[in-house]
Amino acid sequence: MQKHLINIEFEQYDLNELPDDLRSLANEARRASLSSYAPYSHFHVGAAILMADGSVHKGSNQENAAYPSGICAERNAAWHAAAALPGVAMKAIAVAAWTRAGMPEDTPPQECWQESPISPCGACRQSMLEYETLHGDIKVLLLGRSTAYLFPSVKSLLPFSFTEF
Ligand code: THU
Repeated sequence: MQKHLINIEFEQYDLNELPDDLRSLANEARRASLSSYAPYSHFHVGAAILMADGSVHKGSNQENAAYPSGICAERNAAWHAAAALPGVAMKAIAVAAWTRAGMPEDTPPQECWQESPISPCGACRQSMLEYETLHGDIKVLLLGRSTAYLFPSVKSLLPFSFTEF
């Protein structure tokens, strides 16, 4: 028997100490969350992807009365980016989320950001990994209210991923 240990290295930032390009991507992700359609979970997520040509592609979660037919913000953004610019590398993705859970219904989203950095689901990690495998590492910036976690790649967030057979 052998034991193995996987370490995941990431950086923690205060939002105001992020480098300019990542802070502006963070703002785009927050803006994208305002277009979320989440009448069932009331959990609003936005994602913004910086492409190698400098353009930014955004997505938000879109829910459906048939729950599994909805889609997460990250996959929405990744597929939007890949469809708009096939073959172009994705350099970084930022993800932000807010919910009014426990707050008055008229509270503005800007006062409802998730306290802890949001963490993408396994299916979104796997989907983003596909583009990373094709075109190189995609930085992943997960946003909380005043803190962000920065991972160097999607694969760092998805050990033992399925890549090919
Ligand atoms: N969701 C995302 O869009 N991204 C995540 O990283 C986690 C979850 C969405 C799916 C669903 O619409 C709602 O958040 C609650 O799970």
